[in-house]
Amino acid sequence: MANPQQELETSKQLLEAILDNLVDGILTFDEKGVIQLVNRAGVYIFGYEGDELIGQNIRILIPSLANDASQKELKELLKQVSGLGDELEGQRKDGRIFPMYFAVSEVNLDHQKVYTAIIQDFTERKFMEAQVWEKERLNIELEKERGLRDVKNSFISMMSHDLKTPLAAIRLASSMLRNYGDRSSAEEKEETYDTIDQQVEHLTELINDVMIISRQDFTGAELDREIIDLETYCRDIIEELQLAYRMKRTLNFNGTDRRIEALIDVKMMRRALTNLLTNAIKYSPEGAPVNMELAYADCQAIIKISDHGIGIPQEDLPRLFEPFSRASNVGGIPGTGLGLAIAKQAMDLHGGSITVASELGKGTTFTIILPAEDC
Ligand SMILES: Nc1ncnc2c1ncn2[C@@H]1O[C@H](COP(=O)(O)OP(=O)(O)O)[C@@H](O)[C@H]1O
Ligand SMILES: [Mg+2]
Repeated sequence: MANPQQELETSKQLLEAILDNLVDGILTFDEKGVIQLVNRAGVYIFGYEGDELIGQNIRILIPSLANDASQKELKELLKQVSGLGDELEGQRKDGRIFPMYFAVSEVNLDHQKVYTAIIQDFTERKFMEAQVWEKERLNIELEKERGLRDVKNSFISMMSHDLKTPLAAIRLASSMLRNYGDRSSAEEKEETYDTIDQQVEHLTELINDVMIISRQDFTGAELDREIIDLETYCRDIIEELQLAYRMKRTLNFNGTDRRIEALIDVKMMRRALTNLLTNAIKYSPEGAPVNMELAYADCQAIIKISDHGIGIPQEDLPRLFEPFSRASNVGGIPGTGLGLAIAKQAMDLHGGSITVASELGKGTTFTIILPAEDC
């Protein structure tokens, strides 16, 4: 049987073997910072050999302490890295600086404080982190570029269709006037001029929409805001549209008893609401009614515009508010895919929001939330 002395020796050797085979560096030092023990990983991390580090001060390993003679600095640092540890700069024997994890715990031995530090070389980890970041950054950039290219492509295909059609109509009308003008009746001529006017108006509107949506520098400062009564405002818009669609459509309005005021750019908001209403009309069958509802909750005005139309496929919803985005079920119904993007921009600029809920073949509801005044 082994004697106590032998047993102690064996367990000491075992402990040393364990320490030496750890990948983390471990070193102990006294209150002044003088190193007493270092395991193999510790020596290796700092680029030293054998017993070189024993008796040295840990200041040579930590550049932030290097030229300072005061004990205070060391105490501060020990406080910072005690327990969970922290990331510090380390210095190797050849002077190179590297990132390291440094955690210290304190033990009292024979009325003396002994500190044990655990050290990890973070060089590789930092490198990997940087690579992951770089990859992430590149991905984001690529995604952005792809998005821009998509927008550009849809812009070009939209433009080539939507600009060519009215231009062709204008050209046709003008050559009719040139060639047959003398022989046409006043009425026929008037009709041809009307066609030209309508197409020019359509083109102007289209160009306006594109201009609005391509302005990325909107801050909201350029809004021409005034306080209005939302109920009157909405009713006016509905009445105007009802007049334009005459008897063909039923546009309903549902208000509240409460007066709801909002600070808005009336022109911009009218454009947004009109587009939502004309969409509701455009994407539903002729007899189907379109409803607009105004409500108030928690200092907010809530406007809902709903229809019983063709609905929007679920997979088209996420990109619906992006410029030029049109759902796959529009068939031959004409459009540019700019209206909702403009409406969204308007809501953002007013500190509001717009959301959509839709069921394919059943109908769609757009919900606008705007901050209300005076509450
Ligand atoms: N009320 C609605 N019912 C069904 N689909 C709608 C409705 N409103 C918008 N959409 C879909 O959202 C797309 C984008 O709308 P919008 O930006 O106004 O462009 P568009 O010029 O095509 O009307 C439309 O093309 C259509 O697919
Ligand atoms: Mg539209």
